[in-house]
Amino acid sequence: MTTLTIRGGRPLKGTIRVSGRKNATLPLIAASLLAEGTSRLENVPQIHDVLVYRDLLIGLGARVDWDPVRGVLTIHTDGVRPGEPDYHLASSIRASYYLLGVMLTRYGEASVPLPGGDKIGTRPVDQHFKGLRALGAEVWLDRGMIRARARRLRGASVYLDVVSVGATIQVMLAASLAEGTTVIQNCAREPHVVAVANFINACGGKVSGAGTDTIRVRGVDRLTGTVQTVIPDDIEAGTWMMAAVMTGGDVTLQNVIPTHLTPIMAKLREAGAEVYEMGDAVRVVGTGRPRAVNVKTLPYPGFPTDAQSQMTALLSLADGTSYVTETLYEDRFRFVPELVRMGANIRVEGRTAIVKGVERLYGAPVEATDIRAGAALILAGLAAEGETTIYGLEHVQRGYEKLEQKLLALGAQVQLERQGVAVG
Ligand code: UD1
Repeated sequence: MTTLTIRGGRPLKGTIRVSGRKNATLPLIAASLLAEGTSRLENVPQIHDVLVYRDLLIGLGARVDWDPVRGVLTIHTDGVRPGEPDYHLASSIRASYYLLGVMLTRYGEASVPLPGGDKIGTRPVDQHFKGLRALGAEVWLDRGMIRARARRLRGASVYLDVVSVGATIQVMLAASLAEGTTVIQNCAREPHVVAVANFINACGGKVSGAGTDTIRVRGVDRLTGTVQTVIPDDIEAGTWMMAAVMTGGDVTLQNVIPTHLTPIMAKLREAGAEVYEMGDAVRVVGTGRPRAVNVKTLPYPGFPTDAQSQMTALLSLADGTSYVTETLYEDRFRFVPELVRMGANIRVEGRTAIVKGVERLYGAPVEATDIRAGAALILAGLAAEGETTIYGLEHVQRGYEKLEQKLLALGAQVQLERQGVAVG
């Protein structure tokens, strides 16, 4: 168990660099197995899920060189053979499911455990199955494993019943080496979907329409390795932006793509913060108590579900009552009782949290139940009066690189401890 202790009440000030996006990195690592030879990914964050993925690839026969200082992951795929990835590793993260489409299309067979990841709801994978079956694969469940096989996948029309990042990327990966053309409709439009399409194309693939709701993939016979830089993490950026607002601070974030931050910037401005876009940087200045605003999570370019917990923490200090509606995951308000321990006044009714802003939060021992819940508690702790200890910080470390260093660089008073031992 790792804990973070925060002495709150200090405005965060300074400049930090935003890391590469977790949810782009993981499918890109999987996608590297589509290509013959060597691929190099740059701006890769050193976070737990990335290290798990690296180990999964090594287990499948890839040679992987990891340079954590430069954030460069080099993947040589020539030794890869179809087989079962390590059960415990693969079932501990969600994005392991991308190995299904990749191994299936490249080697004709694939097995992965039913995915793990944050406990934020039921998180079905039916659309992944639907897409792979439409391309001609046999897909079945066998004692906790998803297994799939097909001699060669065939291009097809796939209409996704729900807008799913995972299913969109899954079908795109599988279609990249299929025979003929696949048209995927009702696609997710997240920038990381575009990043994966760009990677496939750089390897010699033929994907068009990524970033819109219809993606067309013309299958090719082979792909060859390439070099790609991972896009910046919009959720990490959003988290730091909210920290600036909640502590009345002044934070500049380097290495961001401001257009990817539009939904978060819009809400922060509505709440009264000053947000300046400066090329590949943004500066956020907290200007006193935020105003109450209503938020509803939606697929991109709507407000991201992965920033909902942090925004709820921010609104717990707002002037007035905010309504926060979560449309994607039914269990995404599990952090609310922990915020309430800190003095927040929040009531959850179904999928909506009714957040009555309070003037002050107070430090308390609290527990992180998932990555973003933990991030929300960190924000609350930074703004609170007194000391907050967050248990279960390992959840947060799955998604935030150099968390403690970045907090210290912004002037926060924090101490990371692993089972009673100070680290960092
Ligand atoms: C991914 C992200 C997660 C983020 C989420 C939404 C990774 C590893 N995780 O998760 O951080 O919160 O996108 O941006 O990239 N759904 C189905 N059937 C399916 C697939 C999804 O009903 O087959 C539903 C989900 O339950 C959810 C919605 O569709 O309500 C969106 O899911 P999806 O975008 O696929 O998210 P995840 O892959 O779970």
